[in-house]
Amino acid sequence: MSLINHHLNETYHSRLGAYKESMHVFIQQGLRRFLESNNKRSISILEVGYGTGLNAILSCEEAIIHQLSIRYEAIEKYPVPSDLLGGLSYADLSLENKEVVQLIHSANWESEVEICTHFSLFKRQSDILKTALNHAYDIIYFDAFAPSKQADLWHFDVLQKLVRSLKKNGLLVSYSAMGQFKRDLKSLGLIVTNPPGALGKREMTVACK
Ligand SMILES: C[S@@+](CC[C@H](N)C(=O)[O-])C[C@H]1O[C@@H](n2cnc3c(N)ncnc32)[C@H](O)[C@@H]1O
Repeated sequence: MSLINHHLNETYHSRLGAYKESMHVFIQQGLRRFLESNNKRSISILEVGYGTGLNAILSCEEAIIHQLSIRYEAIEKYPVPSDLLGGLSYADLSLENKEVVQLIHSANWESEVEICTHFSLFKRQSDILKTALNHAYDIIYFDAFAPSKQADLWHFDVLQKLVRSLKKNGLLVSYSAMGQFKRDLKSLGLIVTNPPGALGKREMTVACK
């Protein structure tokens, strides 16, 4: 189950399945791929477009399963009201996950909150176009609405700011494989690959610094 932004006529996730899409794009091709090629247990993640918090919930589950220490910072311009979040069903999540869902949903904004010993969450209500990034990140989940709906979020200047905040060997992942997006990431010096996307989508993007 997901949400729709009626103003943009755009869903927060694939209409074919929020859980499967997030698991494939951000967990499998982002976090797990990073772990395969880096010998690190302490990882910092930035998410652009926190939305329903699904990517944060799934990342927290990974942190618990693999005994990682994740600092998760998420930027969201328009936080989803809590009554809407409460109505989302997470049928695919494990029992342990259901406990952290509540903690993640109710975590205060603008402060770093320890959800469990493996996962801290810093939700920032701000506009990525105007936000200064003061940390260095191992992984960036770039989960903005589609370029056709919010072109300004995919602009070169935004990507440049994100890439500057990415650590060496860090990954920027996105469900999109739009041509200009890939060209911009390449011109910023990243190695860009395009594995198959989620749920039958031809391509997505993984860019390594
Ligand atoms: C595709 S949805 C994100 C889905 C989310 N990751 C999830 O798991 O539910 C895109 C999100 O970007 C947010 N957004 C739109 N404009 C933004 C901006 N200028 N800065 C930060 N976030 C923005 C939207 O409000 C929306 O929540």
